[in-house]
Amino acid sequence: MLAPPDGVIGWRELSIAGYWLARPLLFRFDPERIHHLTMRALRGAGERAAGRMVLTIASGAPRRHVPLRVAGLEFRNRIGLGAGFDKDGLALRGWAALGFGFAEVGTVTPLPQPGSDRPRLFRLPDDKSLVNRMGLNNAGAAELARHVMLARRSLPAGFVVGVSIGRNKATPQADALADYAAAFRLVAPVADYVALNVSSPNTPELREMQERDTVARLLETTLALGRELASVRPIFVKLAPDLDDGTVVSLARAVCDAGGQGVILTNTRLGRDGVQLRTRTPIRDEPGGLSGRPLLSRTLELIKAVRGELGDRLAIIASGGIGSGTDAAAALEAGADLVQLWTGLVYRGPGLIGEAIAATP
Ligand SMILES: Cc1cc2nc3c(=O)[nH]c(=O)nc-3n(C[C@H](O)[C@H](O)[C@H](O)COP(=O)(O)O)c2cc1C
Repeated sequence: MLAPPDGVIGWRELSIAGYWLARPLLFRFDPERIHHLTMRALRGAGERAAGRMVLTIASGAPRRHVPLRVAGLEFRNRIGLGAGFDKDGLALRGWAALGFGFAEVGTVTPLPQPGSDRPRLFRLPDDKSLVNRMGLNNAGAAELARHVMLARRSLPAGFVVGVSIGRNKATPQADALADYAAAFRLVAPVADYVALNVSSPNTPELREMQERDTVARLLETTLALGRELASVRPIFVKLAPDLDDGTVVSLARAVCDAGGQGVILTNTRLGRDGVQLRTRTPIRDEPGGLSGRPLLSRTLELIKAVRGELGDRLAIIASGGIGSGTDAAAALEAGADLVQLWTGLVYRGPGLIGEAIAATP
């Protein structure tokens, strides 16, 4: 009803052009403030039929969905929202109205926590990238579970909700496993899949969990808990791009061997390779994780390495530097099953969602 015939400029192109025009104005304000306002607008729009229609038009997402199965779940398309955009699962109906096939909400921790001091989110427009040290700010796993449960009733078929979990900053690393178990207990009953975030760079020592035995124990614990709760869910593990290929492949193998369904490749990066030198140095060198365009080549390399070594034993979700339909198609070509967007949305706006869906049949 809303889509124009083939061959004419469509809503998607208009949306991308409109966003491009509006972007200089948006970029005059603090990035976290704009993010907060975006979340409020999406949440509000998602709750009303007229608002949802506006979102659908703004993304220009194709209306005909070809459902596919990944990790035993039915997705209406391959494009999803990456973790950390909607930390508390507040705007699920908005994400669905924008056309996404899935959204990964969180990362949540067992207890609420404020995250790092502000400012903690920075733009690098020359590189279409961001640096963040949010520090897993979130309202806690129980609050997220409540939001997801309330939204569930009105989500469309084939829209999958993933929930990302982590540990609280104040929890000693030695007790990390108990934190993941506590968060899992709260979110598993409402999630379609659970992502174990062991790769955020902004929680001290968290990334040390990227070690074969630890990953195996984490999976065994959460899978056993899932059986006990009668909430057996596909489990994904999200890994960091700073690891070398061999380590990522070996961790992905540990995930399969322990009964996990797949990996998310990858998270933000500590290194600044690929960031242009002319990008203003003080921002480029802010501590935190880098996201966006400079990550794409590493994302593709790691997907190829894991797919090449492990074949169809696991599902792969691509995350990192996807900023166009061509990038999304390249991630599938490299071996990914699903693709997540995050920083690309900041630079291209909602039209990127429609473009990526159209490019990834
Ligand atoms: C501000 C911000 C917050 C993020 N928070 C999380 C998070 O809580 N959990 C997580 O697993 N990843 C988080 N990420 C990482 C993204 O999910 C994604 O893996 C990464 O940004 C690379 O994808 P992109 O280049 O498309 O942004 C965050 C990224 C950004 C920019």
